[in-house]
Amino acid sequence: MVKPAYVKLSHDPTPLEMLADWAAGGTPGNWAPNKEYKAALTRLTDLMNLYKCAIMETETRLKVLNARFSLEKERNPISSISSRLKTPESIYEKVHRANIKPGIDELIENMHDIAGLRVICSFVEDVYQLVDCLERQDDIKILRRRDYIANPKPNGYRSLHLIVMIPVFLPEGAVDMKVEIQLRTIAMESWASLEHKLRYKKDMDPELLQSISKELSQCAQLSSRLDTRMQTIRYMIDGFDALDEAAIMKQYESEDIEL
Ligand code: GTP
Ligand code: MG
Repeated sequence: MVKPAYVKLSHDPTPLEMLADWAAGGTPGNWAPNKEYKAALTRLTDLMNLYKCAIMETETRLKVLNARFSLEKERNPISSISSRLKTPESIYEKVHRANIKPGIDELIENMHDIAGLRVICSFVEDVYQLVDCLERQDDIKILRRRDYIANPKPNGYRSLHLIVMIPVFLPEGAVDMKVEIQLRTIAMESWASLEHKLRYKKDMDPELLQSISKELSQCAQLSSRLDTRMQTIRYMIDGFDALDEAAIMKQYESEDIEL
């Protein structure tokens, strides 16, 4: 008879151990067989390390682009980069919420944001320029591109999301890893972090919630206009050289400048 792995744990299972148990086909209170569980735990530990390496690799690519732009154009398109590795706890919660079939291959296939980077740019143009550069890198595959800048979400959320496959070079060879990259401007970032706070307010009075949502929606529009106008000012400062001056002036005319 196969002994359940749980019996061997002399402590409360950690989130990683619970995730390994899920991946090996166990269910809470009915743990997976020891052998499968141990194999899953080893593979998951390795996988989390690979995702960490993928974050480092992606961050380096972005920093290299930033360094080149600052050398050639005398300004930095990237204001800041932050990254996070999804915690085993959050992965465990999401596999159940998203109803992912148990298994590590299933996890890799269906979860796109275990490795995540957020890139904050000064201007909208910087976001598109960076994405363009990433798309042109031969060994990076863009699996998904969601442009919530051109098509904001109904609540006003703007950002450009990429899911990419990037190679991580190990002593034994290269492994392609999935990474989520969110690119946005400083204005988009301040709006999104404020809106994010609202999501965690579960017991708010419905009327207050509605009025805050309305206010946020208006702020999203203002923030979008702010981005456009700042970009225009930058064009003006840098010179109109490569630009269609008439198009910019037209955009100015059509803007409601009553902020
Ligand atoms: P998740 O399963 O939640 O990761 O999302 P998804 O696969 O449906 O992708 P989507 O592109 O909609 O969103 C991915 C991530 O973008 C989220 O985890 C948030 O970090 C961010 N995001 C998306 N929509 C919003 C929003 O309306 N407000 C805020 N603040 N962040 C958002
Ligand atoms: Mg996510």
